[in-house]
Amino acid sequence: MVNSHRKLIFRIYVGFYCSAILLLRICICSQLSMPSINQLSKDAETIPVATNGEPFPWHKLRLPHLVIPLHYDLLVHPNLTSLDFTASEKIEILVREATQFIILHIKDIEIINATLHSEEDLRYRKPGTKLNVLSYPAHQQIALLAPDELIADMRYYVAINFQAKLADGFKGFYKSTYRTLGGETRIIAVTDFEPTQARAAFPCFDEPLFKANFTIKIRRESRHIALSNMPKVQTIELEGGLLEDHFETTVKMSTYLVAYIVCDFNSVSGTTSSGVKVSIYASPDKGSQTYYALDSSLKLLDFYENYFDISYPLPKLDLVAIPDFESGAMENWGLITYRETSLLFDPKTSSASDKMWVTKVIAHELAHQWFGNLVTMEWWNDIWLNEGFATYMELISINATYPELQFDDYFLNVCFEAIAKDALNSSRPISNPAETPTQIREMFDVVSYNKGACILNMLKDFLTEEKFREGIIHYLRKFSYRNAKNDDLWASLSNSCSEGDFMSGGFCYSNSKMRSNTLSVLEKNVEIKEMMSTWTLQKGIPLVVVNQEGHSLRLHQELFLKGVFREDPEWETLQGRYFWHIPLTYSMSSSNAIHRHILKSKTDTLELPEKTSWLKFNVDSNGYYIVHYEGLGWDHLITQLNQNHTLLRPKDRIGLIHDAFQLVSVGRLTLDKALDLIRYLPHETSSPALTEGLRHLELFYHMMDRRNISDVTENLKRYLLRYFKPVIDKQSWSDEGLTCDRLLRSTVLKLACDLNHPPCIRKAAELFSWWLESSGKLNIPTDVLKIVYSVGARTTEGWDYLLEQYGLSTSVAEKNKILYALSTSKHQEKLVKLIELGMEGKVIKTQDFASLLHAIARNPKGQQLAWNFVKENWTQLLKKFDLGSFAMRVIISGTTSHFSSKDELQEVKLFFESLKAQGLHLDVFQIVLETINNNIKWLERNLNTLRTWLLVSI
Ligand code: BES
Ligand code: ZN
Repeated sequence: MVNSHRKLIFRIYVGFYCSAILLLRICICSQLSMPSINQLSKDAETIPVATNGEPFPWHKLRLPHLVIPLHYDLLVHPNLTSLDFTASEKIEILVREATQFIILHIKDIEIINATLHSEEDLRYRKPGTKLNVLSYPAHQQIALLAPDELIADMRYYVAINFQAKLADGFKGFYKSTYRTLGGETRIIAVTDFEPTQARAAFPCFDEPLFKANFTIKIRRESRHIALSNMPKVQTIELEGGLLEDHFETTVKMSTYLVAYIVCDFNSVSGTTSSGVKVSIYASPDKGSQTYYALDSSLKLLDFYENYFDISYPLPKLDLVAIPDFESGAMENWGLITYRETSLLFDPKTSSASDKMWVTKVIAHELAHQWFGNLVTMEWWNDIWLNEGFATYMELISINATYPELQFDDYFLNVCFEAIAKDALNSSRPISNPAETPTQIREMFDVVSYNKGACILNMLKDFLTEEKFREGIIHYLRKFSYRNAKNDDLWASLSNSCSEGDFMSGGFCYSNSKMRSNTLSVLEKNVEIKEMMSTWTLQKGIPLVVVNQEGHSLRLHQELFLKGVFREDPEWETLQGRYFWHIPLTYSMSSSNAIHRHILKSKTDTLELPEKTSWLKFNVDSNGYYIVHYEGLGWDHLITQLNQNHTLLRPKDRIGLIHDAFQLVSVGRLTLDKALDLIRYLPHETSSPALTEGLRHLELFYHMMDRRNISDVTENLKRYLLRYFKPVIDKQSWSDEGLTCDRLLRSTVLKLACDLNHPPCIRKAAELFSWWLESSGKLNIPTDVLKIVYSVGARTTEGWDYLLEQYGLSTSVAEKNKILYALSTSKHQEKLVKLIELGMEGKVIKTQDFASLLHAIARNPKGQQLAWNFVKENWTQLLKKFDLGSFAMRVIISGTTSHFSSKDELQEVKLFFESLKAQGLHLDVFQIVLETINNNIKWLERNLNTLRTWLLVSI
């Protein structure tokens, strides 16, 4: 379930100064008349007024660079009984230009006092100067006013005492709880800062460019432990029995990577071959689920150190499973935090798909220790340099360390997900301006992650892995402990020349390893920056149209826009001036050779070296473009697939299926042609290709089912069960086989049971009753566990038992599967009960509410219920989840984007408009509206074709 989780944003913050008497005591409370951070940023001319009525000396959202931080000494004392914390910090700053004020970020923190010390003050133990504190909550800033000007090039120390509540949600320094097997509820305190919430834990220069060193001390009771980015150097016992842990000083790093935790967790540890101590922490009852994470993090850390040829710079790395966590995981340097389902693996209940997810998240966060932590983007507009790279490195590292997972097949879905969004007019360029916290959080989306990773993969394929690796090593070395932007990356990739390399157009290539066709590419004077800017600075995905006439190939590129057809009046305007430098690859029936050509203009012509019956572009689907074959191109491919599909490479078959259905949604290919293309599918020998074909058929089935188009639903079901009978019958109810076969098993059997295929239901029901009889002790094969539970949840007895088990199970993988099964019930009162439990947040945790609601909305019996719930309980939801949070985005798109009628569209539109009228706006609104519109158009154009095709096919 958590796999559907992603992407964030932020809550509008308002506040005012409420005590004029205590000059240095800033009380940050709510007051509705303050402009919000989003509103104010639009108006740079507004003269800001601090909460006490005095002018605030800074009007921008971003901090001035007059003063920069060098080092933070931070002492934090959380009280897990009173649920608040007191803290003090001393920030060493360097004054770059003389100034009388220092601007810091802060949020929901009460300052007790602030003083300034010169180096001399410290040397002679002078008391320092009191600083006047002005607060400007709309920008989450305070200004510290010094009585005298601070002198340029001098170092000073700002000392601040402050306190705050441990936050209720999932951000800043917050509390998380878990239940022990004995039924006791325990509290822990944990941080989660990215992108702009370090300021909610301590006043700081909370921008990625302000890197500094941090020396952290944490006070705790003896029943707890404290963890932070660095290893502990010593523990001091204080009066009253409190303990104070001192941690080593960190390397130079951004504030969003600082982390600390006070908890009572246990750990398992190991050491990498280079001597880094890796530990996995989890709550005491979950120790047995930590071993896979330990094994894989050791392997992956070893891999990255070798691959980057740069050591992991800290002596230790902790990975901690946090019971309440908003996103999937967070890469804090040396102290990575995870949602429990992203780290824990229970051999008895975790499936092949769970293993894939855990490995992916570990690989991703470990990659960030270099891409993101060592080298950080200058500003959030280039967050793809962190997230796109970490996502791309998952592919490289998992392929090398866990080849049996066949992660490169899975990676194609990463690109398909990106395309689904990027084919909408409401998409955005990879690099995009982002200023307010909401805009910044919206940058953590499929474009930064998936598209970022896919264009890197395309570039690697173009440059060769070896050159690409050299380039990124160059980049990591050059910008270590510093910040970088897009152009820095392109420059590093262009200039990774060493002696003996061939150089052309700012780009170099090793003579010895040069591919013959890369040489011609080089002669055309390729500039990487020029090429890659077409992928990062403009939104959208190109459509390459290929027309073969004898030996000549006519090529043409345009913007691929879903739901907009060439005959539509807006088509031309929407095409705009889009164009890309596309590194094309193609193969032909006549040989195994891979041909390359860069399409740098709108149209181009190629002469084919030999005669061919079929032609396939985008070899192995490594490129980020969709291909359409005009004339007989598709027919030749269809014929080949039917005759002998294995003459095309598996990833090419996946790409063909994907592209064909994409082309249907822009009216370039008829639906029956795409369906004809997958007629060969029951004979498909590659599990991922089969999965891709089934994915589309399943999608149609669910669309028909939701809309109650019963004749088509029934015929699709008949078609699926008849044609895929051999595939279904072949599946065993076990965990044996290769990962891709295990994944296919889960997909196929789930489909069969969803379609009420009697043998499937029978087997699942049988396993479920054995499990019931064994009082939950029987081990059901993990890959079919979710299916068995879902069939079991069809009876009241089964559903109730599962809910009970949900409360008792200590396996997060099992709980996830149970929750999904519960959400598939056909009984609305049960779905209502789940929503109530989710809102209550005890049995079903608040962190799981969004994916629960999404799952309920996917259930035809729950779709209206979930949507009505969102409309009627919006205010309640906003109290629980920040507007831009992952959760909110999942809630909004998960309950609406499957709609496919004009009435539904109208309803959603009205709802979004009412939110906008309240000043609430998210990018996801536009994405949802466009998606529903496309669904409507798809049905209008294709429903009858589908109906007829099924009639003649079954
Ligand atoms: N840096 C992110 C965590 C994050 C996400 C912070 C959004 C702020 C906003 C982390 O590296 C990440 O990408 N986590 C992913 C998991 C990953 C495997 C795709 C997530 O949380 O979904
Ligand atoms: Zn990430």
